[in-house]
Amino acid sequence: MDPVDVLIVGSGVAALQTAFTVSKTKHVILITKSELRQSNSYLAQGGVACAIANDDKPELHKIDTVCAGRNYNNRLAVDKLVNEGPVVMQELMHSGMVFDCNEHGLPLLGLEGAHSQRRILHRHGDATGKHLMEHYLKRLAKSSIHVMEHTAAIELILGEDDSCIGVKTMSKEGKINSIYAKAVVLATGGCGSLFQFTSNSPTVSGDGIALAFKAGARIRDMEFIQFHPTLLYINGKTVGLVSEAVRGEGAELVSESGKRIMNDVHPQKELAPRHIVAQTIYAYLKNGEQVYLDISMIADFKKRFPTIAALCENNGQDLTKARIPVAPGNHFLMGGIEVDEWGRTSVKGLYAVGEVACTGVHGANRLASNSLLEGLVFGKSVGRYLAEAPERVLPIEKKQTKRALSHLILPNLTVIQANIMNDAGIVRNQAKLSRLLSWLESFNIEALLFVDVTQLALRDIEKINAVIVSWLIAYSAIERTESRGGHFRTDYPFEHDEDWREESVVLDRNRAI
Ligand code: SIN
Repeated sequence: MDPVDVLIVGSGVAALQTAFTVSKTKHVILITKSELRQSNSYLAQGGVACAIANDDKPELHKIDTVCAGRNYNNRLAVDKLVNEGPVVMQELMHSGMVFDCNEHGLPLLGLEGAHSQRRILHRHGDATGKHLMEHYLKRLAKSSIHVMEHTAAIELILGEDDSCIGVKTMSKEGKINSIYAKAVVLATGGCGSLFQFTSNSPTVSGDGIALAFKAGARIRDMEFIQFHPTLLYINGKTVGLVSEAVRGEGAELVSESGKRIMNDVHPQKELAPRHIVAQTIYAYLKNGEQVYLDISMIADFKKRFPTIAALCENNGQDLTKARIPVAPGNHFLMGGIEVDEWGRTSVKGLYAVGEVACTGVHGANRLASNSLLEGLVFGKSVGRYLAEAPERVLPIEKKQTKRALSHLILPNLTVIQANIMNDAGIVRNQAKLSRLLSWLESFNIEALLFVDVTQLALRDIEKINAVIVSWLIAYSAIERTESRGGHFRTDYPFEHDEDWREESVVLDRNRAI
């Protein structure tokens, strides 16, 4: 089969924005392991942060982004995000995407944690991701982009020069196929579903990161994981997100006895940076005390937050009591596959965009509602780069010796989820992280890198990917001996060790061999 120009893996907003941009000049195939509507983008509630208000400026958005990112952000990437953001949003609105407006037709802007201004564009209150994605999916149906659902990427195909020349895929029925491509773009999202408590779609399990790592790409900043403070917490389980926009409209975090728990913790109280709110709630829960969002002051809660209201009611919550039980959970990965602003990884022919990629734009903690914006801005930039890229002649495929899994044992996903939540979760230390690392290494990471995945069921391939990505997180979290943003260690409790400000933990396959 002739190679396609561009093969995109994933179906969130970063994938689709890249696909549309590049499809102006190139032939594009987009594959997704599940269905087009299964993505974190589709679930996004809060909205898209963008400095479009008259009294706002990209410079102010930048200050908030870098402050939330604890000064660890790649400044060039942040400049790109905040400066190109308003342009991309205007283009989106011209293409027909509608955001909530007031009676004068001006956008209604929401407020979220660590923003100094109201700058969050939203749709139908808290269903922004769904409406944004439906807008793109309508356009997708009319485009030349060839979509393959239920087609999982199980391995990157390498050329003799170790560049990426395609992807091995597996269908729902277990059929293996090879798709050769002049450029492969990973847009598979982060790794939220590896954690017991998460806001993420179950499909977001770190596959793209594992694939890239196995192919030799550089992976960085994996210790930086954002825990969203408020997931709906029912019978010891988290069952979905309660957007920060709820706190933006005045909801207060209270303990069982009604005490406002953020009052003495941070001047921004409920709207403090996410890691601070998450750590505070976690401490109460660890102490056996439930934490609630008191929503009594929000007039017409169901109208402003219809998705969250339905989530609560479907899970047996009586909203007339105006108290929503919450717990923190994994929400976003700031690290990922190291890329430049054009999405180029350290492996020729391999690109990454969106949450799976690490441009450094989010630093050590992402500012609320910057993730859809990242997908839109960087998707366009990767798409433009590939649209204009010169023709590539693919090298001959490399012959690789793969091993059978027969003698290897894999842990169950639920065990991985519990262990990583406990040992590399909101509060970390050397003892917990070392315990996690040793446990993961007992599954023989090196052997897992070279297993012949074509002989396995998809669920076993996902387990291998889960072990590899968990190992990357544990290894990186041990290396970073400070607390910063989403990475909090009780043995290094002081934020901002200046020695670590410019240092990143970058891992490639050689560390595991
Ligand atoms: C939220 O709505 O609280 C999540 C928005 C985000 O993570 O950016």
